[in-house]
Amino acid sequence: MNAVAPVGHGSEAVSIAAERRWAIVVGLIIALLVAMMVVTGLHWAAMPPSRVETVDVRTLHLKGEFVESNLGTALGQDGKVTVRLIAQQYSFQPQCIVVPAETPVTFRATATDAIHGFVVGTTNANTMLIPGFVSTFTTSFKKPGEHLMPCHEYCGTGHEAMWARVQVLPSDEFAAKARGEERLSCVPR
Ligand code: CUA
Repeated sequence: MNAVAPVGHGSEAVSIAAERRWAIVVGLIIALLVAMMVVTGLHWAAMPPSRVETVDVRTLHLKGEFVESNLGTALGQDGKVTVRLIAQQYSFQPQCIVVPAETPVTFRATATDAIHGFVVGTTNANTMLIPGFVSTFTTSFKKPGEHLMPCHEYCGTGHEAMWARVQVLPSDEFAAKARGEERLSCVPR
């Protein structure tokens, strides 16, 4: 009987020590996370994004770059490919985007009503769209094919039904299609 009591006390001491160790570990993890938040917060506050481009949502459809006739894919005189699109609850315009493969493509996009976003299939083409701001990035698509382009920011009850398609054409096929067309899209007419 004498042997039992010390063993019981011993295991209680062990479990208290173990709990204390865990409390210290968890406390350190929390302190580390808070420190990361503070450091990144201060870092970003000290270094705002280098380039902010704004656009007036109220006149978006009436004048300037994002009027309906200017949306879609443009092949510039210099051979540069630019895709312009807008997002609104709950669709993208154009609904089907054509781009050439193996060519740098610059996306310029904005939103009219709420925060939206898109990602093109499994490619690295991925951005947020915020009303009043122009989101832009340049990427190139490795091979021809078709991708789904869903909205990936929750934007309201129709969010999950909001998506477009992206058709990646071989570059010669794209060039042939672009000839004589001001703005390209693959929306059926
Ligand atoms: Cu638009 Cu979610």
